[in-house]
Amino acid sequence: MPDIAFVKSALPRAGVLVLLIPEGEDASIGLHAEAERASGGSLSRALEAAGFKGRKGQSATLYAQGPFAKIVAIGIGKAEDVSAETAEAAGGSLIPLLAQDREATVAADGLTGALVASFAFGATLRSWRFDRYRTKEKEEDKPKLERLALATTEVAAAKAAFAPLRAVADGVFLTRELVSEPPNILHPIEFAERIKGLEKLGLEIEVLGLKELKKLGFGAMIGVAQGSQHEPRMVIMQWKGAPKTKRAAQKPIAFIGKGVTFDTGGISIKPAGGMEDMKWDMAGAGTVVGLMAALAGRRAKCDVVGLVGLVENMPSGTAQRPGDVVKSYSGQTIEVINTDAEGRLVLADVLWYCQERFQPRCMIDLATLTGAIIVALGHEHAGLFSNDDDLAQRILAAGSAVGEKAWRMPLGDAYDKQLKSDIADMKNVTGRMGSSITAAQFIQRFVNTKDGPMPWAHLDIAGTAWSSKDSATVPKGATAYGVRMLDRLVAEMGEG
Ligand code: BES
Ligand code: MN
Ligand code: ZN
Repeated sequence: MPDIAFVKSALPRAGVLVLLIPEGEDASIGLHAEAERASGGSLSRALEAAGFKGRKGQSATLYAQGPFAKIVAIGIGKAEDVSAETAEAAGGSLIPLLAQDREATVAADGLTGALVASFAFGATLRSWRFDRYRTKEKEEDKPKLERLALATTEVAAAKAAFAPLRAVADGVFLTRELVSEPPNILHPIEFAERIKGLEKLGLEIEVLGLKELKKLGFGAMIGVAQGSQHEPRMVIMQWKGAPKTKRAAQKPIAFIGKGVTFDTGGISIKPAGGMEDMKWDMAGAGTVVGLMAALAGRRAKCDVVGLVGLVENMPSGTAQRPGDVVKSYSGQTIEVINTDAEGRLVLADVLWYCQERFQPRCMIDLATLTGAIIVALGHEHAGLFSNDDDLAQRILAAGSAVGEKAWRMPLGDAYDKQLKSDIADMKNVTGRMGSSITAAQFIQRFVNTKDGPMPWAHLDIAGTAWSSKDSATVPKGATAYGVRMLDRLVAEMGEG
């Protein structure tokens, strides 16, 4: 990751220069004009020859321009339309173009301080990589960028705007790292230990082990874990950032994550092809953890709790069988028809516990819950399910604002009815049709609305947690989808 520096607006003497050029700009103002002069007029001719017009998403790399070894021109579209999103994308798309350079200076004098910070945020997000397990990578294949200087007329404003974004980026990186870790390394106990390490950010963290979970009566979650050599864990994270005057009046916002560190399917075992993907079946939990780290890192002025249920779903002589009946923490019994529908069993107990203990303002769970949500929405939107229109709207809006899109899906009695079991209160699967919805319907049975409304939302992130292709600010692999969206949601719901 390069160091980011915000410096006074001036051209470097030599080296690598990046110009952010609006559509139709003629090199008559600011640092662009100075660079044009320094190049003796060859810069504008080279850009024209390259067909560079400054359109959004356009870029051109030129070499040996006057004193500069390299000039990268990045188009940012119409000057008056540059948004935070445009600036972020420009920053992100710059990173691969500087893979072989150690240092570069960005002439960002045309942007406000806030937009310069967004540019730096985008560049930071894109430059993350997971190389912990590579021992033989060739020098020339490693990215070299150590320092990115942003030359701006608004140094103080840019620095101030970047500080909280940097904390969010750290949360995103933590999520990406957890989700990328192989399943032999990141089992429930190791996962819980890594979360415990976040106490240094000021989070209060409790880890509950098998003994405690048994005593509480977490029958649904324990059933999933019982085939594994690794004991389950539930981790509770609390961030108490609300000003004292508000705390009494305002309950915390709660986030709950599915943390299946590997999902073989259990006795209802999955086919071999692609099963390695199930290392990221803990992405819901990984997102909640990264979100809590982001909120603590930027000292969010709001009370938030995060709970994750960590288990490994394995087949073995001690594994649960199709046909088993388990008793959930809520007291409701579940007939386990398919041991591969395990995420909902974990969420059932953690959700009920969360509500009972914290009586939160609202509960939002995240889970790589169903393959069917990928059939429905592909990799572009997560599935959003909610019993509360206002909460759903806020989540959709927060997601659009940061480029993490969700699409609302329906809930209803006719779906709920399909969960009827012949011998228990419910079964854990239905037919294939609409099975992302019936999965959400199952989870909703563990939201208690007997004593009043409880706004709840469920994000099925099976299609968005992992990406097979790079985008401007998200390198391929673990995306950390949800961290930015929910950080924004907290800012708008809890800190306004
Ligand atoms: N973790 C999977 C869902 C999943 C599939 C996530 C593909 C990411 C990519 C979940 O535990 C699961 O196995 N769901 C089953 C449910 C079925 C048994 C009702 C599924 O989607 O097939
Ligand atoms: Mn499964
Ligand atoms: Zn799963």
